Amino acid sequence: MARTVILSGFMATGKSSVGGLVARALGLPFVDTDACLAEESGKSTGELFASEGEARFREREVALVDPMLRDGVARVIAFGGGTVTVPRLRHAALEAATVVTLTASPETIVARALSSGARPNLAAASPLDRARDLLALRREAYAECHATISTEGISLEAIAARIVEIARVDALAMPLGTRSYTVEIANGEPERLRAALDELSPSSLLVVSDENVTAARGGWLATALEGSTVPRHDVVIVPGEASKTLTTVARIWDEALARGVDRDAVVVAFGGGVVGDLAGFAASTLLRGVRCVQTATSLLAMVDSSVGGKTGFDHAAGKNLIGAFFQPSRVVVDVAHLTTLPPRERAAGLAEIAKIALVRDAGLLAQLERDAEALASGDLVALRPAIRAAIEAKIRVVRDDERESGARALLNLGHTVGHALEAHGGYATLLHGEAVAVGTVLEIEACERLGLSAPGTSVRAEALLRRLGLPTRAPRGDLEAAWPFVLSDKKRGAASLKLPVATTAGCGEVVKVALSDLQAALLTP
Ligand code: GLY
Repeated sequence: MARTVILSGFMATGKSSVGGLVARALGLPFVDTDACLAEESGKSTGELFASEGEARFREREVALVDPMLRDGVARVIAFGGGTVTVPRLRHAALEAATVVTLTASPETIVARALSSGARPNLAAASPLDRARDLLALRREAYAECHATISTEGISLEAIAARIVEIARVDALAMPLGTRSYTVEIANGEPERLRAALDELSPSSLLVVSDENVTAARGGWLATALEGSTVPRHDVVIVPGEASKTLTTVARIWDEALARGVDRDAVVVAFGGGVVGDLAGFAASTLLRGVRCVQTATSLLAMVDSSVGGKTGFDHAAGKNLIGAFFQPSRVVVDVAHLTTLPPRERAAGLAEIAKIALVRDAGLLAQLERDAEALASGDLVALRPAIRAAIEAKIRVVRDDERESGARALLNLGHTVGHALEAHGGYATLLHGEAVAVGTVLEIEACERLGLSAPGTSVRAEALLRRLGLPTRAPRGDLEAAWPFVLSDKKRGAASLKLPVATTAGCGEVVKVALSDLQAALLTP
């Protein structure tokens, strides 16, 4: 089904002209918001600004556009120059539509604007300075989009054709100002990675992978990079959590520096969570930061670790204790990788989907409960929409709390106990997702005992996780022995812990819990 396409950007970047062409090419109705508001009010944009002020004008835009983003009708919409400065509307647009920002230099904008009639927003002693100031003010808002296209030196038809291509990809967008990026969900399309890399024009590629991924998916990567003349260097690590160390990070740094990579290099993380976290951290520090593209090959990496910018490695004192927030430049998720993923790892990834559904998305939870057996069996027809919905839910969380000062901690449901069990087992007995599944059930049970979760939430969570093929229990002795690792958890304050709590199935809250209360509730027989 076609999705709405929105053209955004400063005045005189060609939104209305290109919009009409895109609408014709896609066979969709075209809406120009400035023209609609003028028709509705009987006044031009300039007159509305002058008589009512900008704040009222934005309210009119919201009242016009918001319903169009919710009525399920696909359209091509040309926004006004400042429409995306309203964060709520911008975020709604990014969720409901493909948003393309058109750009031009301030000089071109002023030349085009002044030749095409009155532009109240440029009414100033120096229209050029005014254009520069407004562009600077709106820079972060304009950057939150699915793609940016310069409209200089290119025909309107060529711009429209490019937008049609972008709309067909139907990517998700992570809106983080000038650090925004897209997450593409493909099915057997290695060319998507190639296109994403080509857009970044890297001076060289440093591909970080592991032995299992190289053996199973190396052909996909070879197809993606076939014919590329960009120098490529490879670091292939030993699979598994035991590799998630500073020593492996140093191996990536060493390889990059030995090959003389420069700051225009791109690190390509081609693998699961361990590869993504290590490659992302190495990229964040290499030459003070080079770009990274996350190409997730495990389900866990697709729905969780490749999106959101958490990077790092483990320390003897606990998992992920050293790291950095460093957002990728692109994320490419090709569900075809799941066809060769061992079932146990697939189930481990399903645990992370269930986790986000339990704290943030009752609709996704119902979808998982409806399709549990199909998901567990690796049916891509069920998996693909669940992956997309999980990433959409994660994007909303990260967008609102990138550095985990609040609600992002919800994504750690099951991880307090899960990490402790993993560390206690020397990262050898449980996969991360399995530990999260066990941790999720035990944490929710403890929260029910503490009156923080509604009764019955843990039963519902456990039933789902079991149907997804996951373990949900740990021997009491292991739990007791794992408790000291909870004490070294990085989320802990002095005597308390900020615990993600599924208050009911599909809703969550981060609650400060005394460690003594959690210990008693967890270890109650
Ligand atoms: N994996 C949890 C997060 O990204 O916050």
